[in-house]
Amino acid sequence: MGVTSHADRRTALRSSPARGGRGKTWRAVLGLGAWFASACTEAAPAREHRASVTQLAVQQEPLQPLPEAPAQDEARVALGAKLFADPRLSVDGSVSCATCHLLAKGGQDGRRVSLGAHGASGNVNAPSVLNSGFNFVQFWDGRAATLEEQAGSPLTNPIEMGSSWSRTLGLLEADRQYSAAFGRIFSDGINEANVRAAIASFERTLNTPNARFDRWLRGDTQAITQTERSGFERFKAVGCVACHQGSNVGGNMFQRFGVMGEYFQDRGQIVEADYGRFNVTHLESDRFVFRVPSLRNVELTAPYFHDGSAQTLEQAVATMAKYQLGQTLDAAATAEIVAFLKTLTGRQPKVEAEAKLAAEPGR
Ligand code: HEC
Ligand code: HEC
Repeated sequence: MGVTSHADRRTALRSSPARGGRGKTWRAVLGLGAWFASACTEAAPAREHRASVTQLAVQQEPLQPLPEAPAQDEARVALGAKLFADPRLSVDGSVSCATCHLLAKGGQDGRRVSLGAHGASGNVNAPSVLNSGFNFVQFWDGRAATLEEQAGSPLTNPIEMGSSWSRTLGLLEADRQYSAAFGRIFSDGINEANVRAAIASFERTLNTPNARFDRWLRGDTQAITQTERSGFERFKAVGCVACHQGSNVGGNMFQRFGVMGEYFQDRGQIVEADYGRFNVTHLESDRFVFRVPSLRNVELTAPYFHDGSAQTLEQAVATMAKYQLGQTLDAAATAEIVAFLKTLTGRQPKVEAEAKLAAEPGR
């Protein structure tokens, strides 16, 4: 384990978005926070001036509203939805993608680690599939670049669906309705790439726009309460926003878990999954480094962290403050930040549509 001093880490954090993030630097973000605060506490200027200052400030916020899902081919989406919910794709017919990514539960399963085919236990907490198309890479360690690349791995992962491509393609070919649907949509019918493409198209529709926070960002001053607003100010002022930023409030850079303290040493029992990005690059500097997760819909997705170790948002926020920022937040400050995080819950995808498709294999 490295013996980097806290001061060095702080410097590393400042320049870290260059590691693949599109984000602003730590210093710029904090500078903006201070500027924003002073813009808002100026002695009452003329009304129009005040309105334009607020508008400008909102435009320059480090968080942006979540865009609507990009348009997708409807037939592909329907096919992808059916594949997503079909347990026959697992080796023992017991789990589908939807078993671990329940759309009614924020796109995850609420377990510390998932249970796969034959009851196999996973090694990390299932992240949400909601808004995953907006993340710059997939998985906690970023090992898949796109949703297409990601979509095949659970099918053949022994601790997830435990199947193989030959079994999967054989099953789809033998199913009259699947083979007709693939034939209609893809000129080359059933193959691995088309299975991936259909699932990824469906996943791209699983976005949750129009959260109360987004309505506030767009100028609806009543959309969030004063406490929630104070929570957002704290989120910026203490530095959370240096890592959780952009329209997905995360998902655009890699960072070490334990910038200002040794999270893993304190937790104990370090396992391979804790090495994070190191498992992909084998670079020592990537040990304990993870993709910063999106905080969209985070109130629905407990437990938290790749190890599922935090049961509540309060615990997760306290751990972040301590290990990522070297700060201890009092109960009131934590509660405000948690209140803000709950404004990030957006419009949930229509689960009835998915259930109907699963029940009606003709589509
Ligand atoms: C047994 C539970 C389980 C099943 C079944 C499962 N997943 Fe997952 N999924 C997980 C876990 C756990 C992870 C995180 C793995 C990691 O990061 O190493 C994950 C990660 C993902 C991600 C990445 C999300 C992100 O933000 O990084 C996507 C997308 C996803 N799964 C989609 C699917 C699809 C599509 C299927 C079906 C083909 C599927 N999953 C089946 C448990 C499951
Ligand atoms: C230095 C970058 C960094 C800073 C600063 C930071 N985070 Fe995080 N955050 C991360 C990373 C990386 C993870 C994933 C850790 C893991 O599970 O491996 C994470 C995970 C989380 C999670 C859990 C999400 C989930 O789905 O499991 C929450 C909640 C969270 N952060 C909130 C905050 C809050 C609130 C602050 C400010 C007090 C903050 N973070 C500051 C990088 C950061």
